[in-house]
Amino acid sequence: MISISRLSFSFGKQLALKDINFSMRQGEFVFLCGPSGAGKTTFMRILHGALAVQRGKVDVAGYNMNTLSENRKHFLRRDVSVVYQDFKILPDQNVFANVELPLKVRGVARHIIDKRVRAVLRSLQLDKKAQTLCEELSGGEQQRVAVARAVVVKPKLLLADEPTGNLDRDLAMRMMDIFQQFHKFGTSIMIATHNQEILERMPCARIVTLENGVMHEERLMHGVTP
Ligand SMILES: Nc1ncnc2c1ncn2[C@@H]1O[C@H](COP(=O)(O)OP(=O)(O)OP(=O)(O)O)[C@@H](O)[C@H]1O
Ligand SMILES: [Mg+2]
Repeated sequence: MISISRLSFSFGKQLALKDINFSMRQGEFVFLCGPSGAGKTTFMRILHGALAVQRGKVDVAGYNMNTLSENRKHFLRRDVSVVYQDFKILPDQNVFANVELPLKVRGVARHIIDKRVRAVLRSLQLDKKAQTLCEELSGGEQQRVAVARAVVVKPKLLLADEPTGNLDRDLAMRMMDIFQQFHKFGTSIMIATHNQEILERMPCARIVTLENGVMHEERLMHGVTP
């Protein structure tokens, strides 16, 4: 699903990612940990094509990120969904409109859109807010809208950057259950998190850590060798 060799990335003089080698198989569940400023968001932005590869080789979901042109990135984004740390939802649109958008872009039939969006909103306890403008939502509600929009398309790979950062404990655990459900149905998942409790809840998941832009393998999934 992901294959990376010798990836380095810098913002001007500051090296944010240093000589990273990483691979992720289809169906894996990976936690990306590490302190603030370690490079987690930068790493995810490269995987989603929001930042161009500067050095090294990066393949994601069968796309060569070294050569993928701007006008072909929408192909990658059909297969790879991302939940950004700052949500990037449309504030002046209601919840339903935000979540249905990626399905509309794909030309999915209206009755399927309605069914899928309603099911996802229900599972994230957003059904009563479907008609509410996103700018009127709390931070945690906005975060759930961003997750709903990412999972509604049933992506092959889901990248989620601190998806539980604004949630209370109950909602964070519920969110993890939803990720686990998608994982069971075959989605490969990478979650950047600081939340220790989430890691403990999933003792079988693989953990990689970024520290000062350097990646370490902490814990491998059962039965998977690097
Ligand atoms: N647009 C940018 N311009 C310049 N430097 C940046 C930019 N984005 C990130 N950086 C720097 O790159 C480094 C890695 O940042 P990044 O946002 O990837 O960290 P992070 O692990 O996601 O942190 P956090 O846990 O706080 O979200 C930091 O030192 C940061 O200051
Ligand atoms: Mg970040």
